[in-house]
Amino acid sequence: MMSAPFLVTLIFLVLPPLLTCVNVTPFPPDGKPTVALLLMVRDESHNLRTNLPLWNAPDSAAPFFDAFVIAVDDRTIDDTREAIGEITAGTPTHMFDYTFEGFGPARTLVFEETWKKFPHITHLLVGDPDWKPNLSLINKSDLDEEHHTYQFKIWDRNGVTTRNCNWLMRNREGLHYDYYVHEFLRFPDGGPFVEDQKNLAWEVAEAESDSSWHQTVGHGDKKGASRTFKRFLFDISLLLQEQEDP
Ligand SMILES: *[C@@H]1O[C@H](CO)[C@@H](O)[C@H](O)[C@H]1NC(C)=O
Ligand SMILES: *[C@@H]1O[C@H](CO)[C@@H](O)[C@H](O)[C@H]1NC(C)=O
Repeated sequence: MMSAPFLVTLIFLVLPPLLTCVNVTPFPPDGKPTVALLLMVRDESHNLRTNLPLWNAPDSAAPFFDAFVIAVDDRTIDDTREAIGEITAGTPTHMFDYTFEGFGPARTLVFEETWKKFPHITHLLVGDPDWKPNLSLINKSDLDEEHHTYQFKIWDRNGVTTRNCNWLMRNREGLHYDYYVHEFLRFPDGGPFVEDQKNLAWEVAEAESDSSWHQTVGHGDKKGASRTFKRFLFDISLLLQEQEDP
């Protein structure tokens, strides 16, 4: 028989970790994870039409993503909204316009909208329309209940270098991104923490397209516009804005 003081101590030891997990989406009884793709897009009709369908294996009856949350930059001038309507047909989709005020704030808004519309979805992938997935390495069963973030590999546009990314996570309330440029993922409890991360074999490859927002904005009229001088000036303007932001 445990003594009362010991029990009280035990309860306090157990409570704090439980409390921090309150707002994580529970895993479904069938043990099957569900994934929402979160995107923010501007003049990405071409990339969306080319790359999004690649996630669905030809031999699979069910589409890879269980939901889409897509924020469309209100300066979009191509047929991005029509493309999204066509590609996401049959899958629960929340598409909305937003006014760009930095990458971190925009992606945080997408998290907030996701939590409002799809709180039951177990995992979120914060992606880019120019990603081509390598389906031979991507297996939804790799996503579990215990881990908070999942690391995967992104091949850079040059096709040679790679970087690791943890923008795949359990769905929870209060997810947000810090910073206007090179946004950084944050959890309400101070995470994500490395010990809660699972390293996946998943890989995606960034593909440069000559018809994306870099062209309509005027970052350059040839291939490689995402790495042009004008694009870097754009990033610098955001960094300066961030510096002034109290
Ligand atoms: C996908 O990954 C496999 C295993 O690393 C590799 O052999 C294959 O070339 C990759 N496919 C593409 C399209 O990159
Ligand atoms: C995906 O992973 C599960 C669990 O590890 C495994 O049973 C299944 O065969 C894998 N699917 C493919 C296509 O590799």
